[in-house]
Amino acid sequence: MVIDKVNLIYFSPTGTSKRVSEAIVEGTQIKEVTVTDVTLQSLSEEVVFSATSLAVIAVPVYGGHVAPVAVERLRQIQGQNTPALIVVVYGNRAYEKALIELDQLVTSLGFKVIAGGTFIGEHSFSTEAHPIAMGRPDFSDLHLAADFGKRVADKIASATDIETLYGVDVRQIKRPKQPFWPLFRFARKLMKLRKSGIPFPRTPYLKNGKTCTQCGLCVASCPTGAITLSADEGMRIDPEKCIKCCACVRACKRKGCVYETPLAQILADYFKKQKEPQTVL
Ligand SMILES: Cc1cc2nc3c(=O)[nH]c(=O)nc-3n(C[C@H](O)[C@H](O)[C@H](O)COP(=O)(O)O)c2cc1C
Repeated sequence: MVIDKVNLIYFSPTGTSKRVSEAIVEGTQIKEVTVTDVTLQSLSEEVVFSATSLAVIAVPVYGGHVAPVAVERLRQIQGQNTPALIVVVYGNRAYEKALIELDQLVTSLGFKVIAGGTFIGEHSFSTEAHPIAMGRPDFSDLHLAADFGKRVADKIASATDIETLYGVDVRQIKRPKQPFWPLFRFARKLMKLRKSGIPFPRTPYLKNGKTCTQCGLCVASCPTGAITLSADEGMRIDPEKCIKCCACVRACKRKGCVYETPLAQILADYFKKQKEPQTVL
């Protein structure tokens, strides 16, 4: 079966899902690529993808689920029994139900899932003081991503038509080993932390107002339009709109915008062991 076009579709506030999915697309060696980036806004109208193209769909994991804004925005894409390679990217804790959810979502939208993958990206809450999967996806992750893309292209080439291009059950994917004790200690520490009344910030914030030059990069990077800048009030983040994706933290050149949450320390402490990408096809 010949497929000579890839539709790359992602939601990626801090860029890790984007980088992983771009490496996958490169690995397929299919030259014609269209990009549907739903990070900053919803599509203005429904987009239909043809059965003779491959969709590569990548999203981050939030709280063990597909990031809710991604779900909302992906609902505007439509397949026509279009083969899809789906990927969830998570911050080295766990992806829980996310891959199954993404599979169910894209299947309901008319895609045929022919491959699935779970990759690791630097956790959005990671800081230099509390690094969580810092630097991921790294060289090895991107190499694995490209190889995954190549293997999926080979799978397509060896099928005669869309009927013989078999779908996969993403539940078969091997979950990375999670040692019991760090997980147990993490859960206990989290419970203690919640009981202690120590506040978890509801949004990123300006740690030092003087660092802000009102350059607007935070506003431009925010997927939900939660940030406003004004001469009298400075930078304000609407907690009702903020999804804590930390795109603004990454965008701030002067490192003035931060998201310092006690959760980062315990994630950094108890999920030190680096997980590896897993794929099924
Ligand atoms: C609100 C929120 C919740 C998250 N929940 C999880 C989680 O449950 N498990 C996990 O391993 N990583 C979690 N992460 C980390 C992201 O999945 C990870 O950083 C991912 O690489 C971000 O993708 P992006 O760079 O494409 O935005 C969470 C991040 C955010 C912002």
